[in-house]
Amino acid sequence: MRTTGFMIAALLLAAAGSGPARADVNRGADLYDENCAECHSLAKPLKNKKGPGLVGVVGRNAASVPDFNYSDALRASKLVWTPDQLDAYLRAPKMLVPGGKMKFDGMDKADERRDLIEFLGTQR
Ligand code: HEC
Repeated sequence: MRTTGFMIAALLLAAAGSGPARADVNRGADLYDENCAECHSLAKPLKNKKGPGLVGVVGRNAASVPDFNYSDALRASKLVWTPDQLDAYLRAPKMLVPGGKMKFDGMDKADERRDLIEFLGTQR
């Protein structure tokens, strides 16, 4: 019994100390509402606002929404929005796509970007 209690305590401590190891989709949804919803819609069929609709964006070719007026820089980028490329873009849009026209400074925190990208992956 003693041993079991100790093991449970150790597990709880480990969980508390290391933070969430897995992506938190709900937190990603909140981050989306705070940072992206002003300019990007998740409506189906795709709907553009200041930025292009983002349903299905994970895995999509950059600048591929037909009726959105992208920057020449993004059109020429030939990027594919894999989770890694999205991570780089959301960290610093102007670094990945110099001359791009997304007016967003970027998100510093890697765990926030991870949760947000996980959430985007659920929007198909
Ligand atoms: C102030 C408006 C604005 C905000 C805020 C904003 N975006 Fe954008 N976003 C844009 C615009 C405009 C573009 C088109 C960029 C270009 O053509 O260079 C864009 C492009 C994108 C693209 C490329 C889409 C494609 O079809 O190639 C992704 C992905 C993206 N934004 C994700 C996000 C996410 C996620 C957030 C929130 C963290 C966000 N954006 C915040 C305006 C915004």
